[in-house]
Amino acid sequence: MSVNVVILAAGQGKRMHSQLPKVLHTLAGRSMIAHVIEAADALAPRTVCVVYGHGGDRVREALSGATLSFARQEPQLGTGHAVQQALPLLSDAGVTVVLYGDVPLIRGETLRRLVAASADSVAVLTATLEDPSGYGRIVRGDHGGVREIVEEKDASDSQKAIREINTGLMALPTARLRGWLARLGNDNAQQEYYLTDVVKLAREDRVAVQAVSVTDASETLGVNSRAQLAQVERLYQRDHANALLEQGVALADPARIDVRGSLTCGTDVFIDVNCIFEGVVSVGDGAHIGASCVLKNVSVGPGTRIEPFCHLDSAVIGERCRIGPYARIRPGTRLAEDVHIGNFVEVKASEIAAGSKANHLAYIGDSTVGRNVNIGAGTITCNYDGANKHRTIIEDDVFIGSDTQLVAPVIVRQGATIGAGATITREVPSGALALTRVKQSTIEGWKRPQKKA
Ligand code: UD1
Ligand code: CA
Repeated sequence: MSVNVVILAAGQGKRMHSQLPKVLHTLAGRSMIAHVIEAADALAPRTVCVVYGHGGDRVREALSGATLSFARQEPQLGTGHAVQQALPLLSDAGVTVVLYGDVPLIRGETLRRLVAASADSVAVLTATLEDPSGYGRIVRGDHGGVREIVEEKDASDSQKAIREINTGLMALPTARLRGWLARLGNDNAQQEYYLTDVVKLAREDRVAVQAVSVTDASETLGVNSRAQLAQVERLYQRDHANALLEQGVALADPARIDVRGSLTCGTDVFIDVNCIFEGVVSVGDGAHIGASCVLKNVSVGPGTRIEPFCHLDSAVIGERCRIGPYARIRPGTRLAEDVHIGNFVEVKASEIAAGSKANHLAYIGDSTVGRNVNIGAGTITCNYDGANKHRTIIEDDVFIGSDTQLVAPVIVRQGATIGAGATITREVPSGALALTRVKQSTIEGWKRPQKKA
């Protein structure tokens, strides 16, 4: 069936107290509306039309996609009026699915059920809540069909007692919808053009109205405040954590992991508490991620241990490496197998070959490091001359003494040794020892200066 999707996103979102349009606030690292668009993709829609409001140009700018189109709604005169703005962009064939940009947990699977129910009828997604206050109520007729949707502000006391509510999401035959929207009035408590009033019009035209109920009402939670956004974020993360547990990932605490993107794990991966995964992260078999690590666009090889408090961004970490605690791995880093990067070591745009170690307090930037290299504590590649960056090349089996500065561009050849405290500005030949330290002078029996009385 041909499907149009209309995403309502014109509401102001005043209760967020933010300059940012509400639907651009992020859930799991992506805007709420991006989540809605992704769910809509499950319907393979021919068009997805976003209805945006005043100040919503940022919404347009933030989104892109082949099937996306935009309609501006100004002023905002209600949900029916909002859908009306999208009508010129919709084709009459098939159905139109109305979604909300601030209901981000909706699942594609649920939308498919809604569309399946809308072939010759109007399908309304409903939920049954302990506390239905604030929502439009589903008023059913004698035969159980939906008779009307009554907004809380227009409801009688007996209608207010109904616990089945309108989630706001609907699927409707598009050609019919056009006629119904043209007939909407605003004679109600809020003087708005209610989309929900199409239910009565459909019944007048003898079109059936079906209620499709969600089993888990959290899927249709709307976000109006920061507190609700935080609540929705926790629900999303809980689901994600449960899915990881199902796949066999050992999470120290499923309530203390945040995945803002995609995380793929091999078998017997352990993830300790308070880790954040952003972008696309993969973790190989048997790897161990310590507490409070942040990994963004990283692949971690099998058997690697990342100790607590590490930050890794856009890097490839090989097999059986040891990273941290307190290591920083910056973009463009590639570590081969059995590499050790210890505490307070920063690596940027560098390749480090198998078996090499930088265990304490070092900066390795714009470097190529060979196999089995030992980089002593406090070693720094001076890669920046104030204008340009330069490369440092360290060949296999080099030993670099502590507190060495390697002033790039510079090459240390295979098997060379550098004595502690060196400032290396020229190539060190293979097998050589390079020393740049000043000879120690010693004065015996030195009397320290005394404070004057
Ligand atoms: C609406 C429904 C109500 C349902 C509730 C679920 C109507 C008349 N009422 O209530 O039955 O229980 O949602 O949350 O449809 N929007 C626009 N333009 C407008 C008005 C709203 O784009 O002129 C958008 C909002 O940004 C939001 C969505 O439509 O995403 C719903 O608006 P909101 O004001 O939250 O809905 P209610 O009127 O409270
Ligand atoms: Ca609302």
